[in-house]
Amino acid sequence: MSLSFTWLGHSAFRLDIDGRTILLDPFLSGNPLSPIRPDEITPEYILLSHGHSDHVGDTVDIAKRTQAAVIANVEVVSWLHKQGVEKTIGMNIGGSHDLGFFKVKLTIAHHSSSLPDGTYGGNPAGFVISTQRHKIYFAGDTAPFAEMSWIGDMGIDVAFLPIGDFYTMGVEDSIKAIELVRPRFVVPMHYATFPAIMQDGGAWATMVNNRTNATPIVLDPGGKYTID
Ligand code: NI
Ligand code: MN
Repeated sequence: MSLSFTWLGHSAFRLDIDGRTILLDPFLSGNPLSPIRPDEITPEYILLSHGHSDHVGDTVDIAKRTQAAVIANVEVVSWLHKQGVEKTIGMNIGGSHDLGFFKVKLTIAHHSSSLPDGTYGGNPAGFVISTQRHKIYFAGDTAPFAEMSWIGDMGIDVAFLPIGDFYTMGVEDSIKAIELVRPRFVVPMHYATFPAIMQDGGAWATMVNNRTNATPIVLDPGGKYTID
């Protein structure tokens, strides 16, 4: 029951759960940090936190090519249908769904969500992904919020948190989020892609080590980490 995750730049991650692949917010072809092209990955599921173009990214092309099922809120899913994506699972905040090798729950995120053509994109979300052995919290684009402590009560092994500031929480607020979520490991995302969200991952990791009980994992684009 191994869990590996690979950072694809920005908020895009590949999760490998016992050899099965899930893709999170696959912004690849427009992403200056992406280590791969969209045609180099074949996920079974794509999880999409909200409708912004730096998250939807290559979802439509990848889903059409691979028949991966896209999990997102109902508004994003209905837009994806109009783009020709056939397999979707439209959920909403607080809801969970069992996909067999993992279970997903949509959490709140304080942000906004419009689709690339301006269509209303529902409420932005984060995800708690539960496997038989691990719990992963992918915060999406968000500010910190007090209810993160409830997510922490679920016993989170790995948290993926934005640290870029400007559009989401920044470095200092990520420390607050870590205190609330109490993960074993924490991985920074949504930074260094564009000038507005430049941050120093090494300095962030030092701060996490000094001020929290979590172990920071700073990946280079394409970098992979495995948890037993
Ligand atoms: Ni966004
Ligand atoms: Mn974003």
